[in-house]
Amino acid sequence: MNTVEAEIAFALENLGFSPALIKRRIMEVAAVLDLSDCLQQATSTLSGGQKQKVVLASVLAWEPEILLLDEPTSQLDPMAAEQILNSIRRLNEDSGLTVILAEQRLERCFHLADRVLVMKNGGIVCDEQSLDKLSHWAMKNEPSCLPPVARLFAGFAFSKIPVSIKEGRGVLRSLAPQFDFPLSFPTASPGCGNKLDAEKSFAQPVVEVEKIWFRYPEGKEVLKDISFNLKAGEFAVLMGPNGAGKSTILKNLNGLLRPGRGKIKICGRDSKGVPVAELATTLAYLSQNPDDYLFLPSVREEVKFSRQHLAVKDDIDGRSEQVLQRFGLSQLAKLNPRDLSSGERQRVALAAVMAANPRILLLDEPTRGLDSRHKEELGRFLQQMQAEGVAILMVSHDVEFVAEYAGKVIFIADGSLLCSGSKYDMLSSSTFYSPQVSKLFRGIAQGIVTLKQAQKLLQRILHQRAQQP
Ligand SMILES: Nc1ncnc2c1ncn2[C@@H]1O[C@H](COP(=O)(O)OP(=O)(O)OP(=O)(O)O)[C@@H](O)[C@H]1O
Ligand SMILES: [Mg+2]
Repeated sequence: MNTVEAEIAFALENLGFSPALIKRRIMEVAAVLDLSDCLQQATSTLSGGQKQKVVLASVLAWEPEILLLDEPTSQLDPMAAEQILNSIRRLNEDSGLTVILAEQRLERCFHLADRVLVMKNGGIVCDEQSLDKLSHWAMKNEPSCLPPVARLFAGFAFSKIPVSIKEGRGVLRSLAPQFDFPLSFPTASPGCGNKLDAEKSFAQPVVEVEKIWFRYPEGKEVLKDISFNLKAGEFAVLMGPNGAGKSTILKNLNGLLRPGRGKIKICGRDSKGVPVAELATTLAYLSQNPDDYLFLPSVREEVKFSRQHLAVKDDIDGRSEQVLQRFGLSQLAKLNPRDLSSGERQRVALAAVMAANPRILLLDEPTRGLDSRHKEELGRFLQQMQAEGVAILMVSHDVEFVAEYAGKVIFIADGSLLCSGSKYDMLSSSTFYSPQVSKLFRGIAQGIVTLKQAQKLLQRILHQRAQQP
């Protein structure tokens, strides 16, 4: 339908609900999903997350008996995701709604489930109602199907593994009531040497954004006075609520949109008037919807196409095969991209934009739909790109991924830049944009962001406890 309100009303009208009831239901779901302000907006102009909310609203409004949800929060900011999953949990408890949820980001939903089923190669390999039993099974067979907090404790042979932050904090308190808190803990990331950072601070930025403003035709001001820099070898992430303007910033950088005021320099050169095709040779862009890219009949041709059309004409076949292999796509090379799962399509699209060896990589929510193994591969791949000097600017709601792999975080809210800094400062001081381990150790130790840091700290606490009489 054309507008948000009409879209939500559509199913209800077809089911013959009275106009008064339809109005009430729309009002209720719009409030829960924070859509009240855009009920009259055209659906085609919504941000990715807003679209996902509208679709969710249209099924929730109808109050079905059984709700099947396929990664319903993959594009939602952490606050919206928590709010929606809690509302669904409420409907489950109060109205007896049956919910079957397929999800990769376990930290968002694991603690809400009554029962967990693990699927592998088309079969169900584990079906548990007790999260404790499931955790023990997972530790032996499939650690990736545990949320980070459970994975942390499971690595230390606890008899009962906490699966939520609250339970985890309980365990910490019982372990270490006698210690002086807060423990100070170094905040430098292991493996991200200071030497490299020092070199980077002298380097000329490859992306310079100076006071840009932007508005869509007939829309309100979406970007307001945004400035930031990106250097070669830097891995920065744009975070912030749905509709904040993150995707709009990326599109301004790659020339699909042009700022109304302000300046953007790419590798020292003003991008004003430079055609998108020319910018694309230095600046690869992967949009929020991978299907935007995929139009050829096979995965191999997709990868070859961008290699061919983006200035790199040498050894197209050989390099394309390398890229396919690097992204784990060799097996799928002959298939039609439209027949792949959404995670696989995402990987094909990423492989296609990377085939041209860009100096700057812009990624809009690349981890959505990826399972933990492929996320890990993507993370390692991006860090490798970073080490080779590629500057990466990624938009993401995936706090756990950002915590593990990124370097810098830039917060955007309502079109303005709120704050930016190293992930250690940014993610450990936020309420919602914090990884699980950071929340777990809040008030106990500062600057804990990665799983590795948390493991070290827990080891230290256990060691100290063992020394106590
Ligand atoms: N073509 C358009 N015309 C008018 N308004 C638009 C258009 N595209 C986006 N907007 C609006 O601009 C704002 C910013 O959109 P943008 O897609 O940049 O958000 P975002 O931060 O990427 O959000 P999300 O996390 O949901 O993807 C939103 O309020 C959106 O509704
Ligand atoms: Mg977006």
